[in-house]
Amino acid sequence: MLIHISNPSDPKSWEITPESQYLSRREWLKNAGLMGAALALGTSVTPLQAGSSGWTSLLSDKLASLKKQPDAVGEPLTPYADVTRYNNFYEFGTGKTDPSENSGSFKVEPWSLAIDGAVNKPLKLNLEDVLKPHALEERIYRFRCVEAWSMVVPWVGFPLADLIRRADPTSSAKFVRFETLVDPERFPAQRFARSTIPWPYEEGLRIDEAMHPLTLMVVGLYGKELQPQNGAPLRLMVPWKYGFKSIKSIVRIELTEKQPNTTWQQLASSEYGFYANVNPDVDHPRWSQKRERRLPNSLWDPNWVPTRRFNGYEEQVASLYQGLNLKTHY
Ligand code: MTE
Repeated sequence: MLIHISNPSDPKSWEITPESQYLSRREWLKNAGLMGAALALGTSVTPLQAGSSGWTSLLSDKLASLKKQPDAVGEPLTPYADVTRYNNFYEFGTGKTDPSENSGSFKVEPWSLAIDGAVNKPLKLNLEDVLKPHALEERIYRFRCVEAWSMVVPWVGFPLADLIRRADPTSSAKFVRFETLVDPERFPAQRFARSTIPWPYEEGLRIDEAMHPLTLMVVGLYGKELQPQNGAPLRLMVPWKYGFKSIKSIVRIELTEKQPNTTWQQLASSEYGFYANVNPDVDHPRWSQKRERRLPNSLWDPNWVPTRRFNGYEEQVASLYQGLNLKTHY
C-alpha cells in the first residue's frame, strides 16, 4: 500500500508479478522510512505469561463451546501455517513474516477497550468484560487483501453489532472509528521515530456496515486463540472489504457523526478509499483487481482465482450501497 507516481517505464498492471507488487510496496515503505523500523526491532518486551490470566481461561472455556456456522464458502481452507505466517501488521514491521517473527513476546494484557463517542453508555472494558456476554462462533470467510492475494479462514468471534449495542449508540452515531493500541514496548515498529505511519492505525465503517451481521469482532482462528500477528486480542473482520479495513489489536471504538479519517486515506487517498469494497471492476491505480492469488501459492504456481464483487458477499451486502457510485466511492 503505497504512493507512486507512474512513469512510462513502469510495468503495466498485467505484467506485474505478485512478488514485484509486494517488493514495490516494500520499496515505497522503505523510501517512506518504515523499513528502518523493521531493522531497529528490539526485544525488550516481557514474555507472555501463558495460561495465567482470566482472559486466557475465559477464552479457552468459550472456545470449548464454539458454535460452528455452516461453511458458506465451500472452498479449501488456507492452512493455519499460511494464515499465521503471511501477514500485514506494520506495528511489527513491513515484511510478510515480520509479524510472526517479531511478536513472540507480545503480551495481550493489560488491555482495555473503550467504546465511546455518540453513545448513551460509554464503556471502558477489560478483556474479560468484553468477552463475557458473547457466545463465540466460527465463521469461514474469504479474506481478500488489496494487494491481490486472498485466503479462506475460519475466524472465531462474535457480531460487532452485539458489542456496539452494549454502549447504546445515540441517533447521531453515523460512523464507527476504530483505533489500534499505541505501545512502543509491545509494537517494535512504533519505537522508530521516523515512521511514516501516523500511529495509531485507524479505520472506520459506516454504522450500517458496522452493525451488519457479517461484521465480526474476532478473538480467534482455527478454533484457537488469536495470535499476535493476526491482531490479538481483538480484531475486526469485514469480509466484503479489502483486508486493510480489518484493523487489528483494537483499543478504541468511537461512534461519530462525521466520517472518520483512516490511516490509508491519510497516506494515499487516491489509492485506498474509505469504502474499500472488494470490486473487480475498479482497479488499483497500479494493478488489476480482477483476480487474486489464493494462498498457499508460489511464484511458479500463483493459483490465480477470479475476484468477486463484494468478495462473494454481494447478495448479503449490495443493498447497503444502493445509489452509491462504487467507482468514485472506492
Ligand atoms: N491493522 C493494524 N493495526 N496494522 C496493520 O498494519 N494491516 C491491515 C489489516 N489490519 C494492519 C491492520 C492489512 S493491509 C491487512 S491485509 C490485514 O490486516 C492482514 O491481516 P492478516 O495478517 O491477519 O492476514
